[in-house]
Amino acid sequence: MLFRITVFFHVVFVVGMCVTNCIEWMAIMNMGRAPDAPSLRIWRQLNNAGKWHPVWGVGVLVTGLYFSSSAWRWTTPFVLVGLLATIALAVGGALLGRRIQDFERALEAYEPRSAGSPPSCSRLLRVHGALSGVVFGLIYTMIVKPDLVGALAAVVIAAVAGGVGPAIFADGARSSSW
Ligand code: HEM
Repeated sequence: MLFRITVFFHVVFVVGMCVTNCIEWMAIMNMGRAPDAPSLRIWRQLNNAGKWHPVWGVGVLVTGLYFSSSAWRWTTPFVLVGLLATIALAVGGALLGRRIQDFERALEAYEPRSAGSPPSCSRLLRVHGALSGVVFGLIYTMIVKPDLVGALAAVVIAAVAGGVGPAIFADGARSSSW
């Protein structure tokens, strides 16, 4: 019973992660499109949703650690891939967070009449898409529970699809012109 309830919370943390990713995605893309300073401020505030990521990350990790010390083993391929990918997500997410802050500062400082081109959000969206893809790859991996090759392939394919696919929208996100 306790085990199944913990699986429930594990999935709740995953859902939180996905919802936060969607909010961040909208915020980053619309910061790049913001027509004026007040709009930029609104999207920046929405992007603060990213502060919830440590909660979701620690949540999936702690519940996942519980699974791997009870019903599952560390050496089970999908558990191992899940653990390593979650650590990679934490590092990648922290680095991306810094880049987003730089982007926000660059947007605030940007003067339309200056010589330089406006800051672009497309690379940030590509990296964000790749990290979100890893989460989807892990969802597949944890439900299907494939062998090591299958688990790694799922995560890599989902990361590439996430980085490349949504870039179609990213390219349409023109940068701020104010
Ligand atoms: C972003 C990271 C993660 C995502 C998206 C994720 C997703 C999921 C999902 C959707 C399930 C439910 C599958 C099912 O019950 O059929 C699940 C189960 C599981 N997860 Fe994760 N997980 C993540 C991180 C981790 C980590 C870090 C570990 C281990 C350290 C872990 C270990 C497990 C185990 C062992 C199960 C199977 C539980 C059972 O027997 O039903 N997960 N995960």
